[in-house]
Amino acid sequence: MTASAPRSILPPLTADEQSHGVRLAERIREALAAAGGWLSFERFMELALYAPGLGYYSAGSVKLGAGGDFVTAPEISDLFSRCLARQCAAVLTRTGGEILELGAGSGRMAAALLTELAALRALPERYAILEVSADLAARQRERLARLPQALRERIVWLERLPARPLQGVMLANEVADALPCRRFRIEERGISELGVELDTLTTAPAMAPLCFRERTIAADASLMRACAEIGAALPAPLPAGYTSEVCVRVAPWIAALSAALARGVLLLCDYGLPRRHYYHPQRVSGTLLCHYKQRAHEDPFINLGVQDITAWVDFTRVADAALAAGLEVSGFATQAAFLLGTGIEQLVSEAGEGIERARLAGEARRLIMPEEMGEAVKMMALTRDLDMPLAGFALQDLRHLL
Ligand SMILES: C[S@@+](CC[C@H](N)C(=O)[O-])C[C@H]1O[C@@H](n2cnc3c(N)ncnc32)[C@H](O)[C@@H]1O
Repeated sequence: MTASAPRSILPPLTADEQSHGVRLAERIREALAAAGGWLSFERFMELALYAPGLGYYSAGSVKLGAGGDFVTAPEISDLFSRCLARQCAAVLTRTGGEILELGAGSGRMAAALLTELAALRALPERYAILEVSADLAARQRERLARLPQALRERIVWLERLPARPLQGVMLANEVADALPCRRFRIEERGISELGVELDTLTTAPAMAPLCFRERTIAADASLMRACAEIGAALPAPLPAGYTSEVCVRVAPWIAALSAALARGVLLLCDYGLPRRHYYHPQRVSGTLLCHYKQRAHEDPFINLGVQDITAWVDFTRVADAALAAGLEVSGFATQAAFLLGTGIEQLVSEAGEGIERARLAGEARRLIMPEEMGEAVKMMALTRDLDMPLAGFALQDLRHLL
């Protein structure tokens, strides 16, 4: 996701946002009390994003798009989804079957994908959406109801992954970076886990019962293991003070998706890096970022329930999980290489000359330029029983970095 303004002073919360934050803080305080006064950052992030009716993704703020908190590639331009559609069309021609989109956000990608697939005469048998946010699912329904009936009638919303493994394509754009992550710090005496406690020393005493601050405890065996895996991939030990994230939920998530895929491809698209670049010694504070009204900042304890919290994806962890689940890692490329490989230049030039072409060229630049999304966002193709070249990964193959 990108925020269109640089880090700067955050806009003040509205009265509604403040009272929403207080309700969520009360929910987190209950969880803290039940857990004896300390919650892992992972659990805090889970509540902040997904607590029923209160978390950022579960409640009603705008979230995606220019009027929301951040912008994703499908929100920047339908060119992204049209390129993705071309990759999907090639796979569906081989496998038949369906598309399953995970975390469909505003529904814009689904609309553009289906429209392009209809133009390519490669519509899937059905377009299933698995969305954990009831609020976003309602918005997706509203938006996709405006599609022509021939497209609309293929769309279904699922409550859980299909019991019968599917053939075709699974898509997840910026979903892995929304999975709650654990945070760790390298200390002189060992490894600590970052967590959350009530901030009793806040400068706003009236809010004391609802303010949170960071507290570390000694890492447990599972976090020590995850950090040992990270260390084994690095040329030198990480320095004391180094703080970062590890998303241990990636492996069970990929295993569940793998179990639901009989034949075809799972395409993941996310801000992320291979492990040895992710945990670079210079990235001393990790990759955790919060987004509020197009501003990015690093404080997850403010703007509760009205800001997004996200961390980059360790694609080596994804690849390891995929291999363990019996999938093949068939492609790994930057978003720029994927879009160039699937014909973004052709789509822009088809617009002829004039204003429309200039608009599309501007959007394409935001998607592919290295200083925008082109380099930071990666695409990964995980396949099962799919022996075919994938155009999106033909121009670049970063698998040697994993
Ligand atoms: C950053 S938004 C991206 C939305 C959309 N894919 C886009 O690119 O605009 C993350 C999305 O993933 C959803 N999500 C988070 N965890 C999920 C999970 N385990 N399964 C399915 N969706 C999930 C959120 O509700 C939200 O729709």
